[in-house]
Amino acid sequence: MSGSSALARTLKNPMRPALLAASKSQGLEAFSQRFAFTRAVVSRFVAGYALEDVLPAVAELLASRFVSVDYLGENVRELEQAKATVQAYLALLDGLGALRDELAGRGLVLADGAVEASIKLSAFGQSLPDGQEIALAGAREVCAKAAEVGALVTVDMEDHTTTEATLSAVRALRRDFPWTGTVLQSYLRRTEADCREFAAPGSRIRLCKGAYQEPGSVAYQEKDEVDASYKRCLAILFGGGGYPMAATHDPAMIVEAGRLANGRADSFEYQMLYGIRADEQARLAAERARVRTYVPYGEQWYGYFVRRLAERPANLVFFLRALFGR
Ligand code: FDA
Repeated sequence: MSGSSALARTLKNPMRPALLAASKSQGLEAFSQRFAFTRAVVSRFVAGYALEDVLPAVAELLASRFVSVDYLGENVRELEQAKATVQAYLALLDGLGALRDELAGRGLVLADGAVEASIKLSAFGQSLPDGQEIALAGAREVCAKAAEVGALVTVDMEDHTTTEATLSAVRALRRDFPWTGTVLQSYLRRTEADCREFAAPGSRIRLCKGAYQEPGSVAYQEKDEVDASYKRCLAILFGGGGYPMAATHDPAMIVEAGRLANGRADSFEYQMLYGIRADEQARLAAERARVRTYVPYGEQWYGYFVRRLAERPANLVFFLRALFGR
């Protein structure tokens, strides 16, 4: 990162570097998990702590849009934790399959692809010794279960040290489960090339800006550069015959995706996070656009939650107000 660009970004959101560093702190995670008040605040961004909490929220959303459900967790350090994550996803997918049947019984027949699970390979053990094979085996199990219950899977993208390994796992998964989606991040300098590789018919690509603290050697540092890259990547994805998934809350990117889709509402989808710009999600859905809400749940909310605080100073103010009871 150049000194001037790091400064420019820090001036726009002075807490961002500290918050992104804090998002990786195990000590702070253990500390914040202990307090009841954090739960009240966290619930703005996290739909529940257990499967039985999240399914009613998912059912409500499915009345007007698609969902992608994320069982929270990342960077597991023990094989047992990785296995537990896989088991949690198998239970989640069984729950989503049962929910689908229950909704059909009530007259709401879901469209193909309406239900998806989002997975992080670091939660499946990617950073353990032999972690790539372990994570891939877990992801395969989850994809097989998804196929059984009529759901999809998209592989989230984490920090740049894992990009190559994650894309290689996605290539392997797509051989057996061609509908497996992947995430590409427009802040990475490599992403236009990755878009060209993946923008083929049948591919499902979720394009986001990127949520981690990355060095200037691999990532654009200025918002304008990240946004310009996002637009270039969107154009490649829309031109490539695949199924673009525009994951952004940014009004300018939303307009650009709509422009590139040129009236073909079923050829792509907008995606936004649970609890963020809910009014815009509802507006787009009411205009019959495909909107998918990314719904995180689980006890391991800390890293996800702190990245949301880092994205927007107003979220941090909201958190601090709740903390001090105002
Ligand atoms: P940007 O941050 O420029 O914000 C534009 C506007 O959106 C803001 O002015 C504000 O109005 C609104 N906004 C944005 N963030 C907000 C927030 N936290 N709270 C309230 N308002 C907010 N990242 C990653 O690295 N790997 C991944 O796998 C994913 N997966 C993913 C899935 C989905 C469905 C989404 C929507 C996002 C991700 N992300 C992600 C996160 C993504 O990279 C990015 O950090 C956030 O979406 C914020 O970027 P925006 O494109 O929204 O624009």
